[in-house]
Amino acid sequence: MSKFAILGHGVVGSGTAELFLKNKDNINKRQGTDIDLKYILDIRDFPDSPYAEKFVKDINVILEDDEVTVVAECMGGINPAYTFVKSCLERGKSVCTSNKQLVAEKGAELHAVAKANNCNFMFEASTGGAIPILRPLHTCLAANEITAIAGILNGTTNFILTKMIEENMTFDAALTMAQQLGYAEKDPTADVEGHDACRKICILASLAFGSHVYPQWVYTEGISSVTLEDAAYATSANSAVKLIGSVWKLKNGKLLISVRPCFVCRSCQLALIDDVFNGIMVCGDGIDRVMFYGRGAGKLPTASAVLGDVIDCFKQTGTVMSQTWEDSRSSSFIEDHLNAEVRMYVRLDGVSRETAEKLFPGSVYLDREGKPESELAFITTYMLEKDIIHNLNSLGSAVLGKMPLLDM
Ligand code: HSE
Repeated sequence: MSKFAILGHGVVGSGTAELFLKNKDNINKRQGTDIDLKYILDIRDFPDSPYAEKFVKDINVILEDDEVTVVAECMGGINPAYTFVKSCLERGKSVCTSNKQLVAEKGAELHAVAKANNCNFMFEASTGGAIPILRPLHTCLAANEITAIAGILNGTTNFILTKMIEENMTFDAALTMAQQLGYAEKDPTADVEGHDACRKICILASLAFGSHVYPQWVYTEGISSVTLEDAAYATSANSAVKLIGSVWKLKNGKLLISVRPCFVCRSCQLALIDDVFNGIMVCGDGIDRVMFYGRGAGKLPTASAVLGDVIDCFKQTGTVMSQTWEDSRSSSFIEDHLNAEVRMYVRLDGVSRETAEKLFPGSVYLDREGKPESELAFITTYMLEKDIIHNLNSLGSAVLGKMPLLDM
């Protein structure tokens, strides 16, 4: 019998137990395995749980039980998850985690610990919720030079943007609903300010390009400055406002990586992804582009990804899977986003068209219902972002909004 333990009984941890115990017989039959869940670690009591006897409060019970060879970490955050995961790996127990912060900040180190102890550190559930993206990126697409990855990587913000724009819901009401549905982080600032999407693009970039990209190296903006006026201009430009995490391999060999709200052209499939769904487009020299789509957050969708890894770890017992990357000592391989050329949507107040045309020649001007006389909105031609920012700075408080255009 192959036994595993789950660390944490929150949204994802409880979903992992529920989905496994519901489908256990079929999983074992189809996969030719004999897997069972032995422990659930949580400091809280769950006396009414149908599997109350599985709960333990002390990690040492799991660490010292040789029958437990795989551990699913669903606690989130760095502490104590990092200590627990490292201790499991040091004892040769494979770990499958949904914890994107842990992977984005400690991934290179934990990969090395897993390798040294002949076990696996797996993290499919950390990115894209239910979507199988990391394993396909690392295996099925292995023959490609990856040139770009762009995606909607946070279900909560995509849900909020969809509810605000399509259903006229307020930001606060949409966020509350996302929390009730179990999409949002414990501290939803991580969703709203783009930190969660940043961790996910770091994981994708690290895996695709082989060097650890740390979150603090990534230019990150959230959705708190996006307004319904911006959304209306996006509609008039045949686009949709989406929080996009992207990484591009530049001709100079560096990576251009960011998380920021964008005007996404409706010709791009990412513009069509609404609600809690995530979409990730991967471009490579062999494939042109491949699109991954599915539920990006939530109890059972994320549990599905955790369990996929758990099952794989049991099937690959004794082998070290290669889903890994090297640590990196400096950010010199990351390009400053200000040095890249972009087309930028800009919304100004009290600036004449003549002035705007001098600063941003060749722009396409936009309209919206109820546009005040004093408002001017346009999309620039391709310009270096630092030149756009320089020109906008000269207009001071007249700048009401700006975001880059994504057309891929
Ligand atoms: N808070 C995250 C999201 C959960 O909304 O995408 C899934 O990682």
